[in-house]
Formats: sequence, structure tokens, C-alpha cells
Amino acid sequence: MASRMQMILAVFCMISILSCTGINAQLSASFYGRSCPNLQAIVRSTMRQAVIKEPRMGASILRLFFHDCFVNGCDGSILLDDTSTFTGEQSALPNKNSVRGFDVIDTIKANVEAACNSTVSCADILALAARDGVFLLGGPTWAVPLGRRDATTASLSAANTNLPAPTASLSTLISMFAAKGLTARDMTALSGAHTIGQARCVTFRTRIYNDTDINGNFAATRKTTCPASGGDDNLAPIDLQTPDRFDSGYYQNLLTQRGLFHSDQELFNNGSQDSLVRAYSNNFGLFASDFVAAMLKMGNISPLTGSNGEIRKNCGVIN
Ligand code: HEM
Ligand SMILES: *[C@@H]1O[C@H](CO)[C@@H](O)[C@H](O)[C@H]1NC(C)=O
Ligand SMILES: *[C@@H]1O[C@H](CO)[C@@H](O)[C@H](O)[C@H]1NC(C)=O
Ligand SMILES: *[C@@H]1O[C@H](CO)[C@@H](O)[C@H](O)[C@H]1NC(C)=O
Repeated sequence: MASRMQMILAVFCMISILSCTGINAQLSASFYGRSCPNLQAIVRSTMRQAVIKEPRMGASILRLFFHDCFVNGCDGSILLDDTSTFTGEQSALPNKNSVRGFDVIDTIKANVEAACNSTVSCADILALAARDGVFLLGGPTWAVPLGRRDATTASLSAANTNLPAPTASLSTLISMFAAKGLTARDMTALSGAHTIGQARCVTFRTRIYNDTDINGNFAATRKTTCPASGGDDNLAPIDLQTPDRFDSGYYQNLLTQRGLFHSDQELFNNGSQDSLVRAYSNNFGLFASDFVAAMLKMGNISPLTGSNGEIRKNCGVIN
């Protein structure tokens, strides 16, 4: 006998066909509530171990999520490894020798599979792990909408064109984020991710040798480990003081022309984002709440839902 609730649902489905076919389905924080009740605890504990071992890993996983979402949506496409017959996104210029943390995602996936076989997508695992990376380094936490499915394709060319370069101007940054449905304010808040993590010399060399909107002592310090030529992979903290702490340090650095990337300093260079940078620099609560709102928007870029895509068994390989 059909329950009253089922009848109500059936009527609702007839009225709202879209929500019942999976087209335009919405993500939901309780998506795996029944099918994988321990999911969040598994991701958190595996991320905690990884961040204790190497604090930078929290930053690296956050960046992986950004690079996933900006390239044809948050669909786990960046996790697909190249093979002799498949070229994915990992060898795109912004990713090659640069993005990291795949081993941690694989460990989380293995732990999740052991608890809930073939149930949780790699795209959702990445979204949860990115949130946990932020939280474990002292940042805010939030409920992550879930229900993304995994891509069966990847796009090297989209990775090359959709991800901003560290040489980008403010207007380029604003338009590249606008192309993903994100505002200038979202862009400035999300850039605060650079309060954690490290960067290779090759990504900021031109800035420290040739930019004029840079503090002289800061440039000199960075030059000691980033020569004018050579040492491309030498690392420097993006937030010079607290690269393992999710705080307002990134914005404070911008006020004194200590942004590491040209693109960072563009946010505070007599332009439209100056007042917001000033506000975030002395109001961590405002930065944190804008960052969370923007992460939710970024995490909602073109997810595969319903019967689209698949639940990958191994995050690096299409089933
Ligand atoms: C606004 C435009 C952005 C540009 C131009 C940019 C550029 C870069 C570059 C060049 C690096 C260093 C890569 C390397 O050393 O090979 C980097 C690192 C990083 N980026 Fe961004 N990024 C941007 C936005 C974002 C966003 C939106 C997030 C996340 C929400 C993010 C998170 C990170 C993190 C956490 C790192 C450090 C990663 C690590 O230590 O492994 N970035 N970014
Ligand atoms: C997971 O389920 C599939 C069938 O859906 C089965 O073939 C596989 O052996 C299971 N793996 C584990 C680790 O239980
Ligand atoms: C700095 O600019 C000069 C002149 O344009 C150029 O020759 C040089 O290669 C640049 N240096 C770096 C490190 O980008
Ligand atoms: C902004 O303009 C003022 C006055 O023209 C100048 O002194 C300053 O260096 C510029 N840059 C920044 C980041 O404020």
C-alpha cells in the first residue's frame, strides 16, 4: 500500500519533472546520510593524519579542489591520471609539477571504499577534503553540499585556458571568475586561500625581479632562494609569516605590497578591490564568512548529478 508520503512525492514528481529525473538536481549535505553515514568522519580523520604529517597538505588539497571546479565543473576530472591512451588535466601548464595531494585523496578513497563500497564519488571526497584542509589549518568549517558524480572525461585544453595565471591583471581575474559565475568579491575572498601553502620560484620570479608595486625588503628576501635564472622549483611560503595558518595574513601582506604573485598584488593596487582587501585584513570573521560563501558557490559549478557520470572505484582511473 502506497503511503501518504509516497503519494505526495509522486504528485510532486509529476508537477516538478526536473527534480525527479535528476536533471538540474541539487546537491545536498545529507546526500550520503544513509548510504555512508561515516563518510565525514573518515575524510576528517584521514585529512587530520595527512596535515599532521605535512601541514602544507591542507593547502595542496584546497588548490586541487579549485583546479577541479574551474575546469568543466567539480567532477573529479583533475584526479584522472594520464595513460598511454588518455591525456588528462594533470599535464596542463597550471597543474604540471605543481598540483599535489593525489596520494592523500587515494588514501581517503580507499578508506571510504572499505566502509561504503562504490557509493561516494571522488568529486565529493575532494570537496570534503578541501573543507577539512581549511579547518585543520585554523580556518572556518561549513556543511558541504554533496551528490556530485565523477567525470568520465577530462580536458587538458580547458585546464590550460580556464585557470588564471599568476601574471594575470585584476580585470583578467575578475572576468575569469565571472565566467564561472563568481563575483569580484568571491574572487577576492577565494584568493585568501593563498594565506596557506607554498609556491615555486618560477611562478613569482618576474614579480620579485621586475614589478614595481612590491616591498623592496620582501623582494630581496625572496630573491635569496629564487635566483634570476635556475632554481625554478625552489619553494617560498605564499603568506610569508604564517603559511600553515588560515588567517588574514594574506590580506595584511597585500597592504604592504608583500603579495607573492603579481595576481595577488593586483587585488590591492589602487583598484576596485582595495577596500575589501583592507576590510578582510583586519576582520577575520568577515573574510571567513565571505570565503565560505564563495567556496559553496565554487563547489556548485556544473556538478554531474543523477545518472550522469559515474562513481569511480579508483579516483585516478575511469571505471
Ligand atoms: C585568483 C587567481 C589565482 C591564481 C592566479 C593562483 C595561482 C597560484 C599559483 C601560481 C600557485 C603556486 C603554484 C606552484 O608553485 O606551482 C598557487 C598556489 C596555491 N593556490 Fe592559487 N591561484 C589563484 C586562486 C586560488 C584559489 C581560488 C584557491 C582556492 C580556493 C587557491 C589555492 C591555492 C593554494 C592553497 C596554493 C598553495 C598550494 C600548495 O602549497 O600546494 N588559489 N596559486
Ligand atoms: C565492491 O562491490 C563490487 C560489486 O558491486 C564487488 O565486485 C567488489 O568486490 C566489492 N569490493 C569490496 C572491497 O568489497
Ligand atoms: C625583467 O624585465 C627585463 C626587461 O623587460 C627582462 O629582460 C627580464 O628577463 C625580466 N626578468 C625577469 C626575471 O622576468
Ligand atoms: C596608489 O597610488 C598612490 C598615489 O598615486 C601611490 O602613492 C601608491 O603607491 C599606489 N599604489 C598603491 C598600492 O597604493
